[in-house]
Amino acid sequence: MTRIDIRHYDHRDAAELRPLLLEVYTEVYAAAVENNPFASVDRFAEGLDGWSAKPGWSCTVGYDNDGQTVGYAYGAPLPKDARWWGGLLTDVPADVITETGTRTYALSELMVRTPWRKTGTARRLHDALLAERTEERATLLVDQTHPKVHALYESWGWTTLGDLRPRLENAPLFHAMLRPTAPPSTH
Ligand SMILES: CC(C)(COP(=O)(O)OP(=O)(O)OC[C@H]1O[C@@H](n2cnc3c(N)ncnc32)[C@H](O)[C@@H]1OP(=O)(O)O)[C@@H](O)C(=O)NCCC(=O)NCCS
Repeated sequence: MTRIDIRHYDHRDAAELRPLLLEVYTEVYAAAVENNPFASVDRFAEGLDGWSAKPGWSCTVGYDNDGQTVGYAYGAPLPKDARWWGGLLTDVPADVITETGTRTYALSELMVRTPWRKTGTARRLHDALLAERTEERATLLVDQTHPKVHALYESWGWTTLGDLRPRLENAPLFHAMLRPTAPPSTH
């Protein structure tokens, strides 16, 4: 089996990583980029620049034996006045979505190039990213038209909080999910 080396990065590395992250996005989301304005490379680049400018931004990138990028994951902590929960459509107790700036890590992106799917690489990138965090919990959004990805996250210990549509043009409907940053206990 090919050995995958996972490296950790932070916001100081963002400018150097940017072309690589955009190249992998453009390949992985090629079909969506064609058909869906919300998935455009420009919009993704704007989002990447916003996220990676945050001081708490962190990123894991996987490389194979030849140094080829196999995929990556990144995110950043939600600030106190997080816009993240602004599009939540499900009623939840206020304390569930109260942010302190150090409470919740938002996993913004996870993607793996096709040859490395179903190899455990996605899970390793995800676990390595969350393992370094000091926040108590993490959140992510998964497109409701991708039930298999939703099920995959459930199998990784994520639970569904409710429906969320970001207040952005052309935004799809997502499941908002939560998980403790520490892996669920096996005992
Ligand atoms: C999500 C991802 C990292 C998971 O990798 P993995 O753990 O190796 O798992 P798989 O690639 O086998 O994906 C699990 C299932 O979800 C499906 N799936 C994955 N991404 C999908 C997408 N964007 N849209 C629809 N279905 C998707 C796969 O086809 C697979 O279904 P199958 O078991 O019937 O083959 C990888 O599939 C990927 O990079 N997908 C594209 C980017 C993406 O959707 N990221 C998640 C954003 S929330």
